[in-house]
Amino acid sequence: MLFYFSATGNSKRTAEIIAERTGDRLVSVSGALASGAFSYDASGDERIGFVIPTYFYNPPKAVLRFVENLEIEGAGGKYAYVVLTLGTRTGTAGRSLAKALAEKGVDVVAQFCVRTQYTYIPSLEIPGDDELNTILDEADADSEKIAAQVEAFEKGDFNRFAGTVAAAVSPSMKAAYDKASATSNFTLSGTCDGCGLCAKVCPDGIIGICEGRPVWNSDSCTLCLACLHRCPRAAIDLGESTVGKRRYVNPRTGMPDGPI
Ligand SMILES: Cc1cc2nc3c(=O)[nH]c(=O)nc-3n(C[C@H](O)[C@H](O)[C@H](O)COP(=O)(O)O)c2cc1C
Ligand code: SF4
Ligand code: SF4
Repeated sequence: MLFYFSATGNSKRTAEIIAERTGDRLVSVSGALASGAFSYDASGDERIGFVIPTYFYNPPKAVLRFVENLEIEGAGGKYAYVVLTLGTRTGTAGRSLAKALAEKGVDVVAQFCVRTQYTYIPSLEIPGDDELNTILDEADADSEKIAAQVEAFEKGDFNRFAGTVAAAVSPSMKAAYDKASATSNFTLSGTCDGCGLCAKVCPDGIIGICEGRPVWNSDSCTLCLACLHRCPRAAIDLGESTVGKRRYVNPRTGMPDGPI
């Protein structure tokens, strides 16, 4: 059983590469949150995996919310692993997820990482196609290697991008994450045509469409940026920090009009 959370496709792509090799069944955390599917039976599974992005050196809030509600049968003694996708450093994101999973009887024995395109565009630009393709080729190659390790039930910490300084500052990064994820930070331009895609893709289910415009029905969110990146009219911004910047979805995986 392989759980994945993904807003812009990087983690989904890695999860698909692993599942193709291991034959493990894929479970979308966003889909599970949307349908309220929190109970699973892992008795017939050989492995339990989680592939998730890193947000401010932490797991996405939506993932922790899913794990808090998770009930999983037959997890005891199973090979369990975490794969973090990232752009720069992971800090203690993997350790935090492993701790949350331990409380559910899932004993994480292997940690992996895949460096890929960084999606938090307030602090960076998405590169042009050539550079992007090089980044995605490397990410796919790393995902293939991890798939082989997972298939062979390898144990250990294979995350080479945790970063010692990053790990030390991870707790303060949680406060930065909370501050950045205030929905009052979102701004909407006049190009919005009310198509409603942002509401469909939000894993928190907090966007409503009111008089043809999105409204955020909560003070804060997971900050996955699915709404911002996937808006067909680039109408959603985080203030000036994202205006005019290229949007991104991983072009190597499917992007349904709903939770991915
Ligand atoms: C709010 C936010 C915070 C992020 N913080 C980090 C970070 O602390 N370290 C890092 O390496 N990448 C960070 N990233 C980049 C993502 O972890 C990375 O691009 C990931 O592959 C996106 O996965 P997805 O396409 O499956 O959603 C951040 C992205 C977002 C949206
Ligand atoms: S996806 Fe974009 S264009 Fe469509 S409703 Fe949302 S903000 Fe408006
Ligand atoms: S409001 Fe946007 S950034 Fe926040 S969780 Fe929903 S889709 Fe992600």
